[in-house]
Amino acid sequence: MKRDTFLWGGSTSAFQYEGGGKQSQKGKSLYDVKEEKTGITYSIASDFYGHYKEDIRLMAEMGFNSFRMSIAWTRIYPTGMEDAPNLEGINFYLNVFKELKKYQIEPVVTLFHWDMPQAIIERYNGFQSRETIDLFKKYCATCFDYFGEYVKHWLTLNENNLSLLMPSMFLKQSISSQDKDFEQVRWDCYYHSILCHFEAVKLCHEMLPEAQIGSMLASAFAYPLTPKPADIEATQKHNRDTMWKDLDILTTGTIDRRFMKELELRKVQLSITDEDKQLMHHPLSKIDFISFSYYFSLCIQDSESEQTTNAETMQMIYQGYYNPYLERTTFGWQIDSRGLRIFMNELYDRYKLPVMIVENGCGVESDVLTTDKKVHDDYRIDYLRAHIEEVVKTRVEGVPVMGYLPWGCIDLYSASGNRNKRYGFVFVDFDNDLSRYKKDSFYWYKKVIETNGRELS
Ligand code: BG6
Repeated sequence: MKRDTFLWGGSTSAFQYEGGGKQSQKGKSLYDVKEEKTGITYSIASDFYGHYKEDIRLMAEMGFNSFRMSIAWTRIYPTGMEDAPNLEGINFYLNVFKELKKYQIEPVVTLFHWDMPQAIIERYNGFQSRETIDLFKKYCATCFDYFGEYVKHWLTLNENNLSLLMPSMFLKQSISSQDKDFEQVRWDCYYHSILCHFEAVKLCHEMLPEAQIGSMLASAFAYPLTPKPADIEATQKHNRDTMWKDLDILTTGTIDRRFMKELELRKVQLSITDEDKQLMHHPLSKIDFISFSYYFSLCIQDSESEQTTNAETMQMIYQGYYNPYLERTTFGWQIDSRGLRIFMNELYDRYKLPVMIVENGCGVESDVLTTDKKVHDDYRIDYLRAHIEEVVKTRVEGVPVMGYLPWGCIDLYSASGNRNKRYGFVFVDFDNDLSRYKKDSFYWYKKVIETNGRELS
């Protein structure tokens, strides 16, 4: 495939899609522990492990030239700490990559999509400890070594900018803002995860000079709720705190004055060593592109205003407000296709790096498998059509958009384990035998890809 080809495909993560947890030598990740506590069967999920040939064939039928997946760290190093990798896990991914190659589908691989080995959590409290950085580096080296021949696009850590907002994610015990060491712990974890990112980028460039590696950002793009200057300032702060702060470091390797001020204000002391600075500033530590997820936009109001936040679900973590001019999915996520274009322009203006959409889509519980095994998902087609229209316009405006890989192309578990919240072009029958059925959107997306985004009706 020529390197300048637009990537059309779809996106998944190991813990939500792959399954194959019990019948292999995969180690326990934090999601396997969740499974023990909640009964959510992450160890089965959509069973890509057992269906990968069928699924890749379906992707090829839609015309995919790319497919985003993540590697389960615990499949490569079951506890994260072994000296030698688990060859059975390596062979599984090699088989997947060979199968993708058969159809000229290029893998876009996330190194870390949240499924940290439980043993590392137990022993080192996840990213809180610096030892985890070395273990991550070793895992990345193994991936580059074995899979470099097949993988030309790598992503480091999924939605790394969320780590500060969800600090308990990789810790042994959850921590709340009431705890006295809350700030120190969450900033330590965040900083170490940033170092993991830089280690991965540098190593990738050293070991695989032909490959490209990018960061992965969760978009939390906000507009001011009103034209009041205070709301505008609050919105700028929101966008900076939730997104630009992270990307400023990842793109420049510099921890700027604002970041240092914030640490001071929160009485946090990070041990930023000279080696860290060298790593972050090393020419090989520079990312080649920025990838991101985009599901919604939100509105922000100055916190001193009287009204309290009215948004539910995901937008709550950002203390966001609903935009009266936008519709929402049944999950309360605001549908803002134009916002995707505004966001990509801003991203490119700021960082001057190619951008890749690796998550977008309409996750709803409305998909119904009819008796004749069809799924009429017009709402999904409408959502995706509107977003792809904006992607096409953004490209015309001159932003180098590398690809569009919507989330959950074949149905998978939502991050919280809800298997009825579906995003896919292919319906997975979770209640029976995990059979796959093509939805109406499957045929529609096939046409979109065939015409390189020209035929959207
Ligand atoms: C992103 C994550 O935040 O959003 C995915 O990278 C997740 O893992 C996706 O699945 C959609 O969220 P949800 O809650 O609908 O699964």
